[in-house]
Amino acid sequence: MADTHRVEFVCNDAPVAVDVTEGESLLSVLREHLGLRAAKDGCAPQGQCGCCTVLVDGDARVACVTPVTRVAGRRVTTLEGLDAARRDALASAFVDTGASQCGFCTPGILLRVAALQDRGRDGAGDVERALGAHLWAAPGGGASSRPPPTSRRAGAAGTSTPPRPAPRSRAGSRSA
Ligand code: FES
Repeated sequence: MADTHRVEFVCNDAPVAVDVTEGESLLSVLREHLGLRAAKDGCAPQGQCGCCTVLVDGDARVACVTPVTRVAGRRVTTLEGLDAARRDALASAFVDTGASQCGFCTPGILLRVAALQDRGRDGAGDVERALGAHLWAAPGGGASSRPPPTSRRAGAAGTSTPPRPAPRSRAGSRSA
């Protein structure tokens, strides 16, 4: 049996302690040790698709290339840990703008947008640039389906208007 060592961090506002193997990824720990399945493995360990995106101290990070030892003592948030009303508002924004994605891509995308909101950087240009870190397909295709710009802070907890993400069409650029 491989040697293990203990790593402690805060996950979705609860302290956790897990015994991990050398080099084990945060994604592996979230899914296999903690049973949190929102973050997906789309390309691990390539770090290219964004499906495994989580928040580490509020910053969006791809968990498949983040050694779990790097989050020791830090605060990790997965989609399961996002306030339900906020999660729903974000999801609705994607549906309303025709940018909804499958369940594989969506969790990471929503968390990245949430991180932008928390920094007050959720204008359409900000969202479009940030989503360059994700491989996803815009239904209807690219610029032609791009929604109007967002208003800053829209969709954040306590507000009623969700953001309008700007989808990028990269259909065919990822495998299943
Ligand atoms: S699974 Fe981590 S970026 Fe694709």
